[in-house]
Amino acid sequence: MGIILKSQRELDKMREAGRIVSAVLDAVEAACVPGVTTFELNGIAKRELARAKARSAFLGYRPGVAPPYPAVLCTSVNRVVVHGIPSKQECLREGDLIGIDFACFKDGYCADAARTVAVGVISEPARALLETTRMCLERAIKESIPGARLGDIGAAIARTSESRGFAVVRDFVGHGIGAAMHEPPSVPNHGEPGRGPRLRPGMVLAIEPILNAGSAEVVVLDDGWTVVTADASLSAHVEHTVAITDDGPRVLTAA
Ligand code: MF3
Ligand code: CO
Repeated sequence: MGIILKSQRELDKMREAGRIVSAVLDAVEAACVPGVTTFELNGIAKRELARAKARSAFLGYRPGVAPPYPAVLCTSVNRVVVHGIPSKQECLREGDLIGIDFACFKDGYCADAARTVAVGVISEPARALLETTRMCLERAIKESIPGARLGDIGAAIARTSESRGFAVVRDFVGHGIGAAMHEPPSVPNHGEPGRGPRLRPGMVLAIEPILNAGSAEVVVLDDGWTVVTADASLSAHVEHTVAITDDGPRVLTAA
């Protein structure tokens, strides 16, 4: 299946979903303080989702052999790379880094975004990882213009990450998005400039750099979801849903 181009009307619907995603992440982010459990964070996301009359894209999601995902939010603390499952047993502490990832459907269209948030004061290396990961996404978004190539996005991410001494996780990638959460193409966090499919107006990509402070190697835990760094180093992940338009990149999950 090829890359599905979206009409202006579809992009506007995806923007509505994206507004909700942004508002949910705002509410969750504000609650990322020492003492809160990741289960409580999931509860906040659930409440905001209901308020917006939207449907979770994560709850019950079941790719391949994994068990159905049991929550509406992914909460990935410190060495957890992505897909951390909220838990009553997991309490945030000062100095933690937490990735919060959320997607929903509104009026038949999906938007997907993630942030990594500092809990109180974090260490200098954690700050550098966080800032670099955000910079990777910003630079990737700048590449997301008609006429560029998919490889330009990954190349920008890997270049930015590696210049600061961080490792890009290759086992998980961004994706096309629209009426389904995952559509073609895969959007790797590395690539060759000038290679890959040409970016065209109407394409919508979920771009999601994932950086580790140590090695790029990751391990999936026995729950079938939680991805951790193999060397227990810190990891950070950020994501936006971005439309390619003639007026430049349109970040559908922006505030
Ligand atoms: N943002 C992730 C993705 O794009 C989260 C999906 S994991 C899920 O694939 F199970 F929670 F859906
Ligand atoms: Co995604």
